[in-house]
Amino acid sequence: MGGTTEAKALCKAVRDAGVRGVLSLAGRVKRPAEQGLPMRIGGFGGVAGLADHLRAEGVTHVVDATHPFAAQMSRNAVQACAEVGVSLLALTRQPWVAEAGDDWRHVPDIDGAVEALQGDAKRVMLAVGRMHLQAFAANPQHFYLLRLVDAPEGDLPFEDCEVVVARGPFDVDSDIALMREHRIELVVAKNAGGSGSRAKIDAARALGLPLIMINRPALPERAEAHDVAEVMRWLGH
Ligand SMILES: NC(=O)c1ccc[n+]([C@@H]2O[C@H](COP(=O)([O-])OP(=O)(O)OC[C@H]3O[C@@H](n4cnc5c(N)ncnc54)[C@H](OP(=O)(O)O)[C@@H]3O)[C@@H](O)[C@H]2O)c1
Repeated sequence: MGGTTEAKALCKAVRDAGVRGVLSLAGRVKRPAEQGLPMRIGGFGGVAGLADHLRAEGVTHVVDATHPFAAQMSRNAVQACAEVGVSLLALTRQPWVAEAGDDWRHVPDIDGAVEALQGDAKRVMLAVGRMHLQAFAANPQHFYLLRLVDAPEGDLPFEDCEVVVARGPFDVDSDIALMREHRIELVVAKNAGGSGSRAKIDAARALGLPLIMINRPALPERAEAHDVAEVMRWLGH
């Protein structure tokens, strides 16, 4: 189960090792990048649907390499794999941590970020993905810079905003230039960890910008690996 930079690296390793694997994506992105393995796209239909799928396909190993904020999928995987008796390993990354001089305000979730944005109008880079934009309409006083994989269909819930259509991974120098170009004063980010979307964190640091950091959702206990090599050892390769 993918949709991340880490999953892409794992797909390559699985293919190179000659292991039979299928990449599962939710279907949030219009044209997903080729990742070296056959893909199946779309939700399974909850825990029951995933359990049926695992049985029908004779799946022996599930790697949850989804984004740390894809909590529903990760919870479903824990339940369905336990039910069917399939081994599950999560490929996870350490959260980002503030360094000396960083001005981070930690909030527990999207609602916390919306609340933290109350107050005077600012120029905000809102890096929370497409799915949660609506909640931020509660603070229409700000200018919002959005970076999305696909151009939005229909109207965005903001009066003053700009969309950059781009797909990660991003680099720090370009993100510094982007923030300068849009005179960004504040960054809102999910604490994804990993390297694929880290550039904006480093760029905010370089520019001395304050950052609202959304903490990760809680997940159930599961076996975890922190790099691709560990997953390959678990698969027996
Ligand atoms: N959330 C983020 O910030 C974020 C950022 C970057 C990439 N992504 C990627 O985008 C995808 C969706 O994330 P999300 O936060 O919307 O997930 P989510 O809220 O945890 O999942 C909602 C539902 O979407 C379906 N789904 C999610 N991931 C799937 C996958 N890899 N394969 C098949 N079905 C999947 C499942 O539907 P059913 O219940 O019908 O099975 C799941 O119950 C994930 O693959 C994730 O890795 C998410």
